[in-house]
Amino acid sequence: MVCSVIAIDGPAGVGKTTIAKKLSKKMNAPVLFSGQLYRAVAYEMIKNKINVSQENKIIQIAKKLDMSIYSERALYTAKIDLISSKISSNKLLRKALINYQRRFPKIQKKRIKLVIIEGRDIGTVIFPRAKVKFFMWASSKIRAKRRYDQVKKTSKKAKLSSIQKEIDRRDLRDMNRKVAPMIPAADSYLIDNTNYDIPQTFNAILKILNKKN
Ligand code: DC
Repeated sequence: MVCSVIAIDGPAGVGKTTIAKKLSKKMNAPVLFSGQLYRAVAYEMIKNKINVSQENKIIQIAKKLDMSIYSERALYTAKIDLISSKISSNKLLRKALINYQRRFPKIQKKRIKLVIIEGRDIGTVIFPRAKVKFFMWASSKIRAKRRYDQVKKTSKKAKLSSIQKEIDRRDLRDMNRKVAPMIPAADSYLIDNTNYDIPQTFNAILKILNKKN
């Protein structure tokens, strides 16, 4: 039997990754961070000097993607944030990455009953029949502040206003693209964590999951 999917969608900086990691531990469920696929494509574009208009080359990269070779650290840079956001509106690229995501529950060991997939269009496009769907949200102001507090620890140059601007730009691109825009699935649970910290957000999600079981 193929395992069930918990879909977690939402904008940049809302805490999806942290929540997905905590849920993964609690439920012994592997996680696919689907944004890393777009990030890995962006990484290869930078490495091979390919620009966002070279569609054929971008699709070729996506078709040959081997996710086992990237460290998490290499994929989370400001340049990759920007390029992955730009290329994610490309219809053919999105199509080329669908199979990798849909295969994820199928390639798990037999004892695994549940997987978590985090992204923007998991509950709407990739797994419209996911067992449970969450759409996480928080105001862009609070997301920018959280990111700023994080970046400030290692960089003295961090500027709240630039972080906020970049988050707003990414939101606009994610929500307004023609293909697979970031919108809550009609049957998703909306988790607005503007006024929650991580433990409160996690508890809200666990409460819903416990009710569903
Ligand atoms: O979640 P993330 O920040 O790692 O995602 C990187 C970029 O990829 C982000 O700009 C949005 C895009 N993305 C997407 O369009 N669809 C997904 N399912 C996941 C990410």
